[in-house]
Amino acid sequence: MKFHVLTLFPEMIRNITETSIVGRAVKSNLIDVNTVNMRDFSVNRHMRVDDYPYGGGAGMVIEAEPVYRAIMSVKQHTDTRVIYMTPQAEVLNQTKVEELALEDEIIILCGHYEGIDERVLQECVTDYISIGDYVLTGGELGAAVLIDAVSRFVPGVLSNDESSQFESHQDNLLEYPHYTRPEKWHGHSVPGVLLSGDHRKIEEWRLEKSKERTLERRPDLLKKNFAVHSLWYGSEGFREAAGELTSKLSRYGELYDYNRRKLQKTIKYFGEKDLILIFLNRETDTGESRGEMSPKDEKARSAEKTSGELCGEKPQTGKHSEEENAKQNEAEASMKERFRNLRGKNTHCIFIYGGQEQKQELEAEAEVFSRFLMKKGFRKPEEFMFHMDMNEKEKNMCALKIRSLADNEKF
Ligand code: ADE
Repeated sequence: MKFHVLTLFPEMIRNITETSIVGRAVKSNLIDVNTVNMRDFSVNRHMRVDDYPYGGGAGMVIEAEPVYRAIMSVKQHTDTRVIYMTPQAEVLNQTKVEELALEDEIIILCGHYEGIDERVLQECVTDYISIGDYVLTGGELGAAVLIDAVSRFVPGVLSNDESSQFESHQDNLLEYPHYTRPEKWHGHSVPGVLLSGDHRKIEEWRLEKSKERTLERRPDLLKKNFAVHSLWYGSEGFREAAGELTSKLSRYGELYDYNRRKLQKTIKYFGEKDLILIFLNRETDTGESRGEMSPKDEKARSAEKTSGELCGEKPQTGKHSEEENAKQNEAEASMKERFRNLRGKNTHCIFIYGGQEQKQELEAEAEVFSRFLMKKGFRKPEEFMFHMDMNEKEKNMCALKIRSLADNEKF
C-alpha cells in the first residue's frame, strides 16, 4: 500500500514513519510512504505557498495552485482517494480505517496555518478526516495516525502476536482488561476465571467486561454495538460462509444451524440491539429436518402453502407457469416454516445471498419472506452478497459495508 503525504513539513512524517512497526513495514516494502513537499510546487519566486485571506482576518491561507500541482504530481488514477486532514470533519474510526486499508494507494493532504484555499479542496478532496475534536497546528500528526492505523491492516505488517483480528473497537466495544504473571501483584489477584481453563466462561467474562468498560468510558460507542446472530441452513458451504462473515463482523457473533428441527421448533426472541443475518438459499431440507417432519408439520405446511395468509401475499399470476408458481410457493412456505419461531422487536435483519444469480432467483421468495419477518417484529431486511468464491477484498468490503450501516445507525 502506498501513502503519498503532501505537506510543508516532510521531516515530521519521516520521523514518525521511520520507526517502530510502520518503519519495519516500510523497510520490508509492505508499505511505501512518499512525502511530497508542497513548497516545491510554489508558483512564487520566493517559494512562498501562502497568502493573506480574502475578507481579512488573522493567519495565512495556503494557495490553491501549489496544492493542486502537488496532488497532480502523484495522482496517477482518477479514482485515487485524496484525504484532507482537518478538525472540521468526522472523527476517524476503525470502520473508516479498515475501509481505507482496502485501497492500493491514498493521497493525504496536510494543511497548516489557517487552512487551504477552499477551491482546490472542492476540486480534489474525496474524504475529510479529523483525528479528534481538538485543533492541532497542522495535519501531519493526523496523517501519521492515519498511516499507522491503516498499515496495521495491510497483510504482513503485523506479526501473529501483534495481529489485529480481535481487538478493541471491532464490535464497537472497548477491550476487556488484560493480565499476565505474577498471579498476585501488590495484593491484587488475577480474576479467577482466567485461570480456570474454561474457554467458554473466559469468553463470557471478557464480553461482560468489555461491555462494562465501554458503558463506563465510552457510552457513545455502546449505542453502535450489535450482537450478531447468523442463521444459516442448507449445505456446509453456507455454514462456512456464515462463519466467515460472522467472524469478520464480530468477535462474539453466534451461528445457528437452521437445518436443525430442534432449533426450528424453539421460539427465539431478538431485540433492538441484535443484528440478524439470514443466509438465504434454495437448498432442500437436509435429511435431518425432512426425516423428522411429523404428519402434523406436513399438514400445517401445506395449509400455509395454499392460504399464504401469514403474509397476505398475492398469488403469483401471469408471468410464471403453474409449475413454477407451485415451486415458488413451496419454497416460500418452507422458508416461513423454517423460521416460523423467530420473534423480533424492532430488530435489524439482513439477507445474505450467495451471489447475484441467487439473489435474482430468490427475489420473489425474499420479498414474501421479508414481509413475513416484518410481521414478526423485524425491520425491513437489508440485502448483501457474500460467498466463498469472493476474494478476500470483496469479503472484507461486504463486512465493512454492514459494519458501517451499524456504525452510522443507517439501518
Ligand atoms: N489538523 C488540525 N487539527 C486536526 C485534527 N484534529 N485532525 C486532523 N487534522 C487536523
